[in-house]
Amino acid sequence: MKKIMVTGALGQIGSELTGKLRGLYGAENVLATDLRKPAEGSSAENGPFMQLDVTDGERMHELAKSFGADTLIHMAALLSATAEQKPLLAWNLNMGGLVNALETSRELGLQFFTPSSIGAFGPSTPKHNTPQDTLQRPTTMYGVNKVAGELLCDYYFSKFGVDTRGVRFPGLISYVALPGGGTTDYAVDIYYKALEEGTYTSFIAEGTYMDMMYMPDALQAIVDLMEADPSKLTHRNAFNVTAMSFEPSEIGAAIQKHIPEFRLEYDVDPERQAIAESWPDSIDATAAKEEWGFKARYDLDSMTADMLEKLKAKLGK
Ligand code: SER
Repeated sequence: MKKIMVTGALGQIGSELTGKLRGLYGAENVLATDLRKPAEGSSAENGPFMQLDVTDGERMHELAKSFGADTLIHMAALLSATAEQKPLLAWNLNMGGLVNALETSRELGLQFFTPSSIGAFGPSTPKHNTPQDTLQRPTTMYGVNKVAGELLCDYYFSKFGVDTRGVRFPGLISYVALPGGGTTDYAVDIYYKALEEGTYTSFIAEGTYMDMMYMPDALQAIVDLMEADPSKLTHRNAFNVTAMSFEPSEIGAAIQKHIPEFRLEYDVDPERQAIAESWPDSIDATAAKEEWGFKARYDLDSMTADMLEKLKAKLGK
């Protein structure tokens, strides 16, 4: 990776990934693009930025070409809960954007990354220690998009030789950018509310396990996979990666170690609860470890300590 174009660069992952890539490869070598304009003073402004609607394939191609990109990191997408509310928009944006990004990569010979998700699994998938290769019959539009995306990325590699790579991310937790419209968002909201109000009402029910990862580990995973020796990659586009699996009361207990008076309540949202229940409780990341040395550094306790410290500073608490 030397000249990298990022789509969705103002999103949950993109806004931090852009900064990390600029630190590693030079600010001038990372072109941030997004549908929105960056807010004044945002980190997206620490290097080149262009507005891009990813459903506009021609403009995507032109921007990548004039920048001289050799890598395309495609992050623009709608998350699971929003996609469930606007399924057609999700199809058009998630699949249309992906096809444009793959075509741009094929035409310009770019290395390519896009994330899949634990959302690519469904109720008939084995729930515990979910294998790398297993049944994938998701029941959400987001899941349908992710499975189709994994297959499409495989196809562009086998058919056209595009160097496509990807991971199945679990819920990602960060103190920098807020997620929007995801099912795992509760595990971010809870830290804000713990500091701001001392109490949190979870829209996910007690006992509902999902995989999670702290953002620094997710960003490092992207860099490590993109730098990995391609001859070692069997599962190019859909590596299971995870750092921890917990349910709401466990993250609540981890927060109480720092804020003993913190209270966790529940007001379950049936739609997001149904999505969560259709996903695995914990996935197996052995293939990622073996094929490119994936490693997560943060567990629930170390993430919680770091999140609370950083958020305290951010919120002026
Ligand atoms: N965090 C995502 C979501 O909840 C999962 O990929 O939609």
